[in-house]
Amino acid sequence: MSYKILEKREMVPNVHLIKVDAPDVAKAARAGQFIILRIDEEGERIPLTIADYDVEEGSVTIIFQEMGKTTKQLGTLSCSDDLQDFVGPLGHPADVRNLGTVVLVGGGIGIAPIHPQAKAYREAGNRVISIIGARNEGLLILEDEMRARSDELYVATDDGSKGHHGFVTDIVKEILDGDEEEVARIVVIGPPIMMRVAAGVIAPYDVETIVSLNPIMIDGTGMCGGCRVSVGGKTKFACVDGPEFNAKDVDFDLLMSRLSLYRDEEGQALENYNKCCSGSDCKCQ
Ligand SMILES: Cc1cc2nc3c(=O)[nH]c(=O)nc-3n(C[C@H](O)[C@H](O)[C@H](O)COP(=O)(O)OP(=O)(O)OC[C@H]3O[C@@H](n4cnc5c(N)ncnc54)[C@H](O)[C@@H]3O)c2cc1C
Ligand code: FES
Repeated sequence: MSYKILEKREMVPNVHLIKVDAPDVAKAARAGQFIILRIDEEGERIPLTIADYDVEEGSVTIIFQEMGKTTKQLGTLSCSDDLQDFVGPLGHPADVRNLGTVVLVGGGIGIAPIHPQAKAYREAGNRVISIIGARNEGLLILEDEMRARSDELYVATDDGSKGHHGFVTDIVKEILDGDEEEVARIVVIGPPIMMRVAAGVIAPYDVETIVSLNPIMIDGTGMCGGCRVSVGGKTKFACVDGPEFNAKDVDFDLLMSRLSLYRDEEGQALENYNKCCSGSDCKCQ
């Protein structure tokens, strides 16, 4: 079985949106879940969050940043190309309930996984305040979509080219310091360092804070141990126990050190790919 690409576009440099024909995945998908795909038979399996799904159309949308060999290769595919595998939905859905006011924070490519959550939290009756951030305006994704799915939207850029000049966490702190909102939950998704900083900033306020972890994953079934993380001093497998966990319990240092375990091999794979592939004309694996 293969999975046809229905739509493909580059949203900002090196960040692509791909809509895939995958009716069974779309039917079962919930916000917070992910898929594991393989481009072809020799391909590496990579996990990507379900950024959107449409049951009627039978489609699932993923949004990814080019990081290494597989995401770079994925970026060269076009409409009507096929993916070999598209397995999911995997992981626990986000624990979406009517809680009152929920703050959703997405940094960089982390805005993609926050996007379905905004819709789900709003449909569950919450007041949704979203905060999205990027290094600069040219790298910001899904601003209009997030505005449409949120009661309030704040934008932050590191260089001040759009919205608040600074980090998303500055805005989180402002909201928590103000007396206008009683925040029931904060969901933070982005690079591990951003999630760790956010967890530290929010800790003194004692507001439930959820993060979605992105360790290296291989099988996605709890068998290989690749996605091992430490949460509350206990070993958890992000693929089956997560990917969402309570931020205050996560050992972010371990997460970050395990993410760099295969840096040499990943660098080599990318170098080989760059040497023998140009555009979509790849001659070797
Ligand atoms: C549950 C989950 C959801 C994710 N959702 C998204 C998403 O929506 N959009 C997005 O752009 N990225 C997402 N990622 C990260 C994405 O899987 C990696 O960027 C991708 O696997 C990199 O593969 P590569 O071959 O291009 O790069 P590589 O050269 O293999 O690696 C580049 C970097 O990506 C990380 N990485 C490598 N392999 C994996 C792997 N199998 N699993 C996780 N991280 C890996 C490593 O930190 C490495 O330093 C998600 C990861 C997880 C675990
Ligand atoms: S990816 Fe293998 S145990 Fe989670």
